[in-house]
Amino acid sequence: MISDIKLYIPTLAEIVKAQQLTELEKFFEIRLLEARPFSFEPGQFILLSVLGVGESPVTLASSPLKKDGVEVCVRRVGSLTNALHRLQEGATIGLRGPFGKGFPIEALKGKDLLFVAGGIGMIPLRSLIHYILERRKDFGQLSILYGAKTPKEFLFADELMAWGQKGDVRLMLTVDKPDETWGGNVGVITRLIPPLELRPKETYAIIVGPPVMYKFVLMELYQKALPESQILMSLERRMRCGVGKCGHCQINNVYVCQEGPVFSYQFLKRLPEAI
Ligand SMILES: Cc1cc2nc3c(=O)[nH]c(=O)nc-3n(C[C@H](O)[C@H](O)[C@H](O)COP(=O)(O)OP(=O)(O)OC[C@H]3O[C@@H](n4cnc5c(N)ncnc54)[C@H](O)[C@@H]3O)c2cc1C
Ligand code: FES
Repeated sequence: MISDIKLYIPTLAEIVKAQQLTELEKFFEIRLLEARPFSFEPGQFILLSVLGVGESPVTLASSPLKKDGVEVCVRRVGSLTNALHRLQEGATIGLRGPFGKGFPIEALKGKDLLFVAGGIGMIPLRSLIHYILERRKDFGQLSILYGAKTPKEFLFADELMAWGQKGDVRLMLTVDKPDETWGGNVGVITRLIPPLELRPKETYAIIVGPPVMYKFVLMELYQKALPESQILMSLERRMRCGVGKCGHCQINNVYVCQEGPVFSYQFLKRLPEAI
């Protein structure tokens, strides 16, 4: 019983950097104030609490190799996330976790990787992309497709520019609605997939975006003959406890907070309600 209670006690942490990235999304660098082991895999999440307000699941957006703190990026949508956005550098928050299963890094080693991100789906992918760039020789070709509604809504714009300038990263961006600054692709992200030359058996696709995006991206990847076990997705479900106790995240007999949020399409096909 006592060990159960411990699962719900947050570790205190300090916001050491807070930076507005877009109108709705803010970036936070966080450092734990209490000594305790903390390591994670890209794709895992934490429960982040604003003291006196509540807590919300948030994906870790930094590389697991970064040792002096973690980074998250949060969209302002409701009570918790608005309260978090109002906090300044130096403020104390709480965090629990890391929770869930992330991307299977060992299986990705040696493979070509195709990232498909829509909107804030770039947040969990950023953690993995940073890791891969820091261990570049361990992975094959790296392609990053990223779609946003407008050019102003791309997250981590400076990093995108830097990735695009690397000789060993294929970066393709697209927007739904261009503005006067935009000279790139216009239209849905799925249009970027047909021209790609992929080696299907050697490729893992990693997709994170709004629910509507998955079905259409899957149809394009089907045309490319990618094995279903090599298509990975991260699911966003309502979560409360994060530790398999409350059932809020449950789809049939699967607890997304425990077995996910990263799943293969081969697995998710058995759960038609999931995507
Ligand atoms: C595993 C996981 C990882 C996540 N990672 C991130 C992240 O890295 N960055 C980020 O900005 N957000 C992330 N989210 C979503 C985030 O948890 C919710 O936006 C947040 O909990 C909303 O809390 P709130 O109190 O501000 O909003 P509320 O006041 O609770 O709700 C405001 C509005 O947001 C909607 N909403 C609430 N929760 C969710 C949800 N889980 N998914 C979709 N819509 C929701 C509600 O329907 C409502 O319309 C993640 C969610 C999960 C489950
Ligand atoms: S969030 Fe409580 S069981 Fe998954």
